[in-house]
Amino acid sequence: MMRRSEKNKQNQNGECQWRVFVSRPVAEPAHRRLAARVRVDLWDDEMPPPPAELQARARLADGVLSMVTDRFDAAMIRALPQLRAISNLAVGVDNIDLAAATRAGIAVGHTPGILTETTADLAFGLLMAAARRIAEGDRYVRGGRWRTWGPKVMLGRDIHGATLGIIGWGAIGQAMARRATGFGMHVLYLAGRRTARLARGRRPRAPASTGPSMPESVSLERLLAESDFVSLHVPLTTETRHMIGEAELATMKRTAILINTARGAVVDPLALRGALRAGRLAGAGLDVTDPEPIAANDPLLKLSNVVITPHIGSASHATRLKMAELAVDNLLDVFEGRRPRHCANPAVRMR
Ligand code: DGY
Repeated sequence: MMRRSEKNKQNQNGECQWRVFVSRPVAEPAHRRLAARVRVDLWDDEMPPPPAELQARARLADGVLSMVTDRFDAAMIRALPQLRAISNLAVGVDNIDLAAATRAGIAVGHTPGILTETTADLAFGLLMAAARRIAEGDRYVRGGRWRTWGPKVMLGRDIHGATLGIIGWGAIGQAMARRATGFGMHVLYLAGRRTARLARGRRPRAPASTGPSMPESVSLERLLAESDFVSLHVPLTTETRHMIGEAELATMKRTAILINTARGAVVDPLALRGALRAGRLAGAGLDVTDPEPIAANDPLLKLSNVVITPHIGSASHATRLKMAELAVDNLLDVFEGRRPRHCANPAVRMR
């Protein structure tokens, strides 16, 4: 049945005329469901549309199904006077100027919740890979250097019994804590104002038989000074940009390992490079970098104590399908006259 606001966009044959620009191929079932309801213009390429192309295609659209690689700054948003919705295939919306979108009456949808566990899986995987030198060991074997078992070959750091500091106590930070308590780690965490409110009274579920202690809310200073691993789970905002810089890295243990599955720019890249090269930090597991992708000649790539993956925190088949379905739902909500069910700018007065 055609809903009220869809009628505004029917042609004489009663066909719906909403147009959506999809800036990369997404999971087919979700794409088909969208294409059954609106006219889809697909950017069918592995690489993102260049900004001029994004603008030209989005100008002709009522909605965009966008990726974290599509930048909607204030100038781009001003150039899209008829756009009603941006539906980001991500929980993070730092690629979109939310204030400008709100002023322009563009509803911004995103995909929280469904990628929590998948992202925490990768964060914990990076922690294990960096601590136990898994990627480095694989390169060692493939490079023909495995000549014998040795009592000092490829020694790493224990995970069980170690202290994990979690910066950002939202859904993903708490999912990381559940994994850590299962491994017998002690968890310290730093909650932002909003996540502290949400988390008050709630503790991450941990198997009763394994947790050595309950996660402990601490100051940033204490978290950095006491943790063997520090894992970042905050959104990128003006407050969190470069929140881990030279001073913060200097207060971490020299034996500590930094894990970042949030956004590259939460860490000052020069400070991180300096600390790792100087041996002031034992290692890092990074799924995100600044800039992204990391340059092929970046000195970080020469360091054996760094594990880097290409921003794949949410990249499981099942999760990317759920994200695409939710991104489609968010768009269809707008065409049916509602805010997206997961709206990143709920104060918007929609066009
Ligand atoms: C997100 O959801 O913000 C990720 O970075 C992209 O999957």
